[in-house]
Amino acid sequence: MSTTVPQPDSSRRRFLARQLRWLLAGTLAVLATPLLRFAGFTVKPKPRYVTVNKMLPPGSVHTEHDFILFVADTGGRAISRRCTHLGCRVNYRLELGIIECPCHQSQFSPEGTRLAGPAQRNLATFPVRVLKDDQGAISGYEVTL
Ligand code: FES
Repeated sequence: MSTTVPQPDSSRRRFLARQLRWLLAGTLAVLATPLLRFAGFTVKPKPRYVTVNKMLPPGSVHTEHDFILFVADTGGRAISRRCTHLGCRVNYRLELGIIECPCHQSQFSPEGTRLAGPAQRNLATFPVRVLKDDQGAISGYEVTL
């Protein structure tokens, strides 16, 4: 007379072990994300392109939501409108030739260099690409934010 010992359901055990491994991996990923961010690892955001679709004469200034575009003979220079003090939106004061923050009156040069006020850092600058039409004439500007 032989007795049969019930065999464990091996496929069920494998399934549960696999689920446990995925749960463990997910938990580690969730726990590691804030640690990596704390350690300084950040994902750089994708660049955003803003196009100014018109030819501007050299020496002119064009203001957009996020930047001020200064046009020169050789191209353009885009300065961020986000104040480095507390983030207010700065404006170009044509009569004074400076960029000024309306919140606490920090002042910056047209190159974005800090001149006065509570802001301690210069304004950010963005790369500008001059767009040309088929004849080679300037047709606009592309600013990479
Ligand atoms: S936010 Fe611009 S000076 Fe304070």
